[in-house]
Amino acid sequence: MIRLDKLLSNLGYCSRKEVGRMVKSGALTRADGTSFKKASDKVVAEDVRLDGEPLDPTELLIMMHKPAGYTCSHRDRPPLIFDLLPERFAVRDPKLSCVGRLDKDTTGLILMTDNGQLLHRLISPNWKVEKFYQVDTVLDVTEAQVERLAAGGWCLPDDDKPLAPARCRKTGERSLELVLTEGRYHQVKRMLEAVGNPLTRLHRSQFAEWEVGDLAPGEWRHFTEAEREALVESCSL
Ligand code: URA
Repeated sequence: MIRLDKLLSNLGYCSRKEVGRMVKSGALTRADGTSFKKASDKVVAEDVRLDGEPLDPTELLIMMHKPAGYTCSHRDRPPLIFDLLPERFAVRDPKLSCVGRLDKDTTGLILMTDNGQLLHRLISPNWKVEKFYQVDTVLDVTEAQVERLAAGGWCLPDDDKPLAPARCRKTGERSLELVLTEGRYHQVKRMLEAVGNPLTRLHRSQFAEWEVGDLAPGEWRHFTEAEREALVESCSL
């Protein structure tokens, strides 16, 4: 149980002060339609309705199809991927973070959560979460390049830790799929440059078992409860 005013302000709907006014106006009710008496009433989040609608989940777990040109950050110059979400998400407590980052010009699946433990597991190299990248290249893809990209055991320029083995397959004359369990800075771009075939397009199609699917660029959705449970279980949380 949590105070109604604390719940609404934590979820970013309004300040704690404003909740009293909302209670008086009748905008806030229980699921059965009955009214609250005061802003300090103790409630269960799932039982609260605002203008008849359920509130946002108390824990956010979101997937988005990141469009090109957007930055995965709270602080950089806009446009930011967080601008594609409801404004109230920006003032939630705890804060929403992206699970790793995609470069500004990279498109595809990005996860976001405000669950710190889950975030930590998903970005930790120890958990070896697979990220699937679709890559277009400047030159024809050779068998030697595919083998080297998959092999691991060699170092990128300015890195002293050898790359982990990856999976790589040619998908066209000038395209390939690379599946990584690491998430180093500009990793795919740097790997392609290192094998002498820089990329011209980078798209993340899948993160663990989650695919970008039908989401159009800029679209997002909450994980379903079943999806959330599967993810939490796969992270042994
Ligand atoms: N590797 C990159 O080089 N860029 C991305 O956005 C993701 C992985």
